[in-house]
Amino acid sequence: MAILNILKEGDDILRKICRPVEKIDKRILTLLDDMKETMILAKGIGLAAPQVGVLRRVVIVDNGEKILELINPEIIKTDETQEGPEACLSLPGKCGIVKRPLKVTVKATDRNGKEYTVFGEGLTARAFCHEIDHLNGILYTDLAIEMIDPKDDYEVADEEE
Ligand code: NI
Repeated sequence: MAILNILKEGDDILRKICRPVEKIDKRILTLLDDMKETMILAKGIGLAAPQVGVLRRVVIVDNGEKILELINPEIIKTDETQEGPEACLSLPGKCGIVKRPLKVTVKATDRNGKEYTVFGEGLTARAFCHEIDHLNGILYTDLAIEMIDPKDDYEVADEEE
């Protein structure tokens, strides 16, 4: 396995549309392993292939229980909305408030070529949306309602008192 370089905002690759994976070969499996190692080291909860310079529809998301490998992921269902802080390993030191669905169901292919669906809520739902956006050249700053200081604790107004 290898630690990959994470591209930063301003790199054109982050703005490109990724191509679907047609065949899960050794390169894709190595990519998944390397992305996993890279994300863990960077303390992220998600990573998309274009962030490591590969224009393929591959993302990984840590849902708190395991690191999900999603090849050719597609959001097939969303429900309710949430507003909260979001950050990205490609935009270090930044944070923004983004509105996302609260619940998201994704269909994807695993490393064995088997199609599966996975449900995520809250932070995981947010990560699914954020990582799949990367595959379409979208960064969260394109969607942010406002940018905030990452050191500030974001609180939902009605949670106070
Ligand atoms: Ni990101």
